[in-house]
Amino acid sequence: MENINGSLNREFIMKQINVIEYLPKIMEELKKGILINTKNGDKTNSMTIAWGQVGIEWGKMFFTTYIRHGRFTHEQIEATKEFTVSVPLQRTPEVAKAIGYIGSRSGRDIDKLSDMNLTLLEGKEVKSPAIKELPLTLECKVIYNQEQNIDNIPQEIKESCYPQDVPSDNPMANKDYHTVYYGEIVNAYILEESDFAPVEQPKEEKKSPKALWIILLALLLLLGAGSFIYNRINKPQTYRTVVREEMSSVYSNTGLVNDSRVQNFVSKNPEILNSVAITEIRESFSENNSIKTKNVVITLKNKTDKDINDLEVVINLLDKKGKIIEDIDEDIETIGANSDYTLNISIENDKAVNWELADIKKG
Ligand SMILES: Cc1cc2nc3c(=O)[nH]c(=O)nc-3n(C[C@H](O)[C@H](O)[C@H](O)COP(=O)(O)O)c2cc1C
Repeated sequence: MENINGSLNREFIMKQINVIEYLPKIMEELKKGILINTKNGDKTNSMTIAWGQVGIEWGKMFFTTYIRHGRFTHEQIEATKEFTVSVPLQRTPEVAKAIGYIGSRSGRDIDKLSDMNLTLLEGKEVKSPAIKELPLTLECKVIYNQEQNIDNIPQEIKESCYPQDVPSDNPMANKDYHTVYYGEIVNAYILEESDFAPVEQPKEEKKSPKALWIILLALLLLLGAGSFIYNRINKPQTYRTVVREEMSSVYSNTGLVNDSRVQNFVSKNPEILNSVAITEIRESFSENNSIKTKNVVITLKNKTDKDINDLEVVINLLDKKGKIIEDIDEDIETIGANSDYTLNISIENDKAVNWELADIKKG
């Protein structure tokens, strides 16, 4: 994922989310104001909204937004037919200030996002950006829009929400009617700093040559002691459990699996869950001679009363943009009836930053 304004020296990952689980948070923040972001050519812009909803139509999940005709955002969406939605997870004073500023000025002639020092990151499925400071992001493609039928709007709402005696080009004015844009949610995630983010170095202080020699000596001693201790005791690994639920039950209840790394495969091949469940994914990170390695343990469960023989599991290694850079094929001879099988995969940092399950098939 590229950092658009280049001001930040860290990598980010898009932690995929199940939108339904985050509905209360999205609606709670929407009431107070969240952002709709657009990018048309070089022009990136955001506006604040407090009306909208997440819903389902035609079997697709949408974020529906109401944009008055006079907004610059209206022009941007008409031109690009896409937008992103940015929801804050914490409404800090800086975030609240940015949401207020962006909702009270038009972006036609100013750059509201850089005025507010917000950090933009490229979307994955759309050109509109994600915003680090408002990390919950919905990437949306507009597949339908509708003008309001003015005759059907109750008179008291017309008077309160659409007064006709104010100018339409004022960002704070409510004269214009809305276009309703149905943005199909094509990607949903929370921006998180990557586990492999380069560590920012503290600013160097000027030191005298004598002090430098002492530091060098101390470092050498530390290094010696460190490698001695490392060789004596195995370096402890901190395990971070990513998924604990039985995937099959998550799948059958909601139609969505939480973990992005298996989500795509499982949603395209639900029948696999009849015989094999992915019961746990554990990741740990280790570093040896400055080579950082991500260790992935995937537990597969044979749910049937018979042994399953000759399975091949294909894992795609992904770069930071989510592009496949390598396949790993793991052959499993047998998973015993009603038994677990653990797959262990090691991924070196310079090879990939992420992975996804690509296939489980008969070998
Ligand atoms: C809290 C809040 C909620 C808003 N909700 C909407 C909305 O749902 N639809 C809309 O058209 N304008 C809404 N606005 C107004 C726009 O954000 C505002 O006119 C903005 O300046 C438009 O920016 P743009 O011209 O750069 O697109 C809201 C403003 C605030 C402060």
